[in-house]
Amino acid sequence: METNRRILVTGGCGFIGANFVRLLLAHQPDWRVINLDKLTYAGNLQNLEGVVEGEQYRFVKADICDASAMEALFVEEQIDLVAHFAAESHVDRSITGPAAFIQTNIVGTFTLLEAARKAWLSDTWKGNDPRFLHISTDEVYGSLGDTGMFTETTPFDPRSPYSASKASSDHLVNAYLHTYDLPVLITNCSNNYGPYQFPEKLIPLVFHNSTTGKELPIYGDGKYVRDWLYVKDHCEAIVEVLIKGKIGQSYNIGGNNEKQNLEVVTLICDTLDKKIGLPVSGAPRRELITFVKDRLGHDRRYAIDASFIREQLGWEPKVTFEEGIEKTVDWYLANQDWVGSVIDGTYLKYYEKMYG
Ligand code: NAD
Ligand code: TYD
Repeated sequence: METNRRILVTGGCGFIGANFVRLLLAHQPDWRVINLDKLTYAGNLQNLEGVVEGEQYRFVKADICDASAMEALFVEEQIDLVAHFAAESHVDRSITGPAAFIQTNIVGTFTLLEAARKAWLSDTWKGNDPRFLHISTDEVYGSLGDTGMFTETTPFDPRSPYSASKASSDHLVNAYLHTYDLPVLITNCSNNYGPYQFPEKLIPLVFHNSTTGKELPIYGDGKYVRDWLYVKDHCEAIVEVLIKGKIGQSYNIGGNNEKQNLEVVTLICDTLDKKIGLPVSGAPRRELITFVKDRLGHDRRYAIDASFIREQLGWEPKVTFEEGIEKTVDWYLANQDWVGSVIDGTYLKYYEKMYG
């Protein structure tokens, strides 16, 4: 693939997007990175503190649903790569307020696909061979029982408004391949964790609550299983797919790391007890665990078979779960100001509504 790419990263101020922008700026010095983000509650400019605008990087505050802004940006910047992260991403919010998920995840993805189609499939396109990578989730495949794993050919069976909106967007992306020959790729990844994750998701929520003496809400029996992947590993996989992936292909990305929620929560508590000592109460942090009402329609188990991407592109996760949790806890301990500042009034109101 040619160098001197001009990549549009949508949602680059969110958790994975910010890690991805940082990775690109460090490892792809020939690429111009245009980070487009609406700055919703989940998007934070602080996630890219220290990143300076200039020849290599530009930030654009915009909504991916704004068709004229998207079309103009493709032309103005001669975008030839897209890494599309922007989304509403939290399952619990999709249960209490699904409309934003339909708008951003479905209509927004459609709007971007249209902008790419108009720019890249026009007779006047003179840029590099373009590629549109849509970043999606393993949740599109539904829920597993005790055995089995999701492969690239597992039929879609989304069960929450979030996963249904992501599955819809995956279908749209595929439709643009088959109908228009738009050069698209898709990645379906398992649960990420690491720096800059908004403290409404399980791992940063447990960090925040257990360092501030709050209860650790465990939905249902806590035996739900997720396949956890360190965010840098995910970002590296995305770069591989962008550069070497086969047009039209979906790639499953996972951590080979299935854990029950209770195991995850107790590991964070114990790691914190070791690193910063027991809280003033003298009780281990795991005693803050509180079983609460289950999530509606809670998917029991996700597990990714990531052998295809390993065989085709040579990618596999490098960071073990124990190392990843250690790095993540260290990062959150060193960045408690960040945690405080992203938990704004809006988030707290939502949190209080959920947990009282
Ligand atoms: P996030 O919620 O942390 O960040 C989403 C970003 O998108 C935010 O910066 C937000 O401001 C921006 N955004 C939202 N609506 C927008 C709009 N209409 N226009 C422009 N920007 C908008 O999400 P994340 O966890 O970083 O996830 C990124 C992507 O990866 C999502 O598409 C998600 O479905 C997918 N994914 C996430 C995980 C995970 O574990 N977090 C796993 C697999 C796939
Ligand atoms: P989450 O981080 O919201 O990711 P996802 O729903 O996309 O998998 O949740 C991870 C798991 O943790 C999921 O099984 C729900 C559970 N969970 C809790 O038990 N308590 C919580 O407070 C949260 C946020 C999640």
